[in-house]
Amino acid sequence: MIKIANIELPDFPLLLAPMEDVSDPPFRALCKEQGADVVYTEFISSEGLIRDAAKSIIKLDIYEKERPVGIQIFGAELDSMLQAVDIVEKSNPDIIDINFGCPVKKVVCKNAGAGILRDIPLMVKLTEALVKRTKLPVTVKTRLGWDHNSIKIVEVAERLQDVGIKAISIHGRTRVQMYKGEADWRPIAEVKNNPRMQIPVFGNGDVDSPEAAKKMRDAYGLDGAMIGRASIGNPWFFKEVKHYFKTGKHLPPPTMEERVDAARRHLQMSIDWKGEKLGVFETRRHYTNYFKGIPHFKDYRMKMVTSDDAVDVFAAFDEVLEKFGDYQFA
Ligand SMILES: Cc1cc2nc3c(=O)[nH]c(=O)nc-3n(C[C@H](O)[C@H](O)[C@H](O)COP(=O)(O)O)c2cc1C
Repeated sequence: MIKIANIELPDFPLLLAPMEDVSDPPFRALCKEQGADVVYTEFISSEGLIRDAAKSIIKLDIYEKERPVGIQIFGAELDSMLQAVDIVEKSNPDIIDINFGCPVKKVVCKNAGAGILRDIPLMVKLTEALVKRTKLPVTVKTRLGWDHNSIKIVEVAERLQDVGIKAISIHGRTRVQMYKGEADWRPIAEVKNNPRMQIPVFGNGDVDSPEAAKKMRDAYGLDGAMIGRASIGNPWFFKEVKHYFKTGKHLPPPTMEERVDAARRHLQMSIDWKGEKLGVFETRRHYTNYFKGIPHFKDYRMKMVTSDDAVDVFAAFDEVLEKFGDYQFA
C-alpha cells in the first residue's frame, strides 16, 4: 500500500495532474468517479490568494466527493507563500502541493514554478517553511531540473524529503524542454532507487496508454503515475488503466452515450458550482475534448460553444446523441 502521510492509497495509485483551466471541480469529480486515486487542483497563485483575487479564491473550492484532493499553489516569496498556506488550509484539502514545475515564462521569471530549479537552496528553504506552517501533508511537483546540464533531481528529492514533504511527483522533462521531446523516466527511477528515499515517488510525463502506465510501474518501479493530458476529454482513462492492470485487456472506448452523459454532468456540476452564466461559459472549453474526432460535427460543436442558455446546450447534447449515437470511436 502507498501512503501520503496518513492517506492510504491502493498499489500504484493514479493521480490526476494539476492542469490550469482543465482540473476544475467538475472535471476532477468525473476523473475521481472513473478511478483517479488522488486529484489536484490547477495551480493557484499565492500572490492572488493573499490579494483576495476572486479568480484565485474560487479555485480553492473542492467537493467532498473528490477526496483525497490536493490544492496546488505557486509563488516564490516566502511571506506570500506562508499566508497562502493559511488561506488554503481553510478550504480543508487533504494535501497542499507546491508547484516547482511550471515552465511558463511569466511564472519562471519571478523564480516561481520551475524557475526555482535555478536556486535549489531557496526551493528547500521555502518548502521547509511551508511544511512547518501547516499540519496538512505537503507534496511537491517538479521537473528533472532547469536544463539538461543541471539535473540534480536525486539530491533535490532527498533534500525535500528531509525537510518534510510527504510525496513527490516528477515530470520527466527539464524546464528548458517545456513539453518538447519525450519524457525521460530514468532520472525519476534513480530518485526511487535512492535507498534514502522513504516517501512515494510518482512519475509524470507522457503516460498516454495503459501500456505506458504499466511500463512506469514494472520497468521503472515508480510508486504511481500522475496523469495529465491523456485525461483531457477522457476521464475514463483512469478506469482503462486499472482495467488493463487487472486483466491485461483494453476496454472499448467510451460510447457516445457515455460522452454525452459526461458533458451533461460536467455542465450541470459547473452550473451548480458557479451559476448558469459562468457555468455555461466555462464548460465550453471541455466539449471539444469529449467529442474529438467526430466527422461533420462542427455545427453541433458551434451550438454547444455559442449558446448562452443552459437549456440550449442541454438540447444540443440531446441532438448529438440522436444524430451520432451509433458513432464508433476508434
Ligand atoms: C493544459 C495544461 C495545464 C497545466 N497546468 C498545470 C498546473 O496548473 N500545475 C502543474 O503543476 N502542472 C500543470 N501542467 C503540467 C501537467 O501537470 C503535467 O506535468 C504535464 O502535462 C505532463 O504530464 P502528461 O504528459 O501526463 O500531460 C499543465 C499541463 C497542461 C497540458
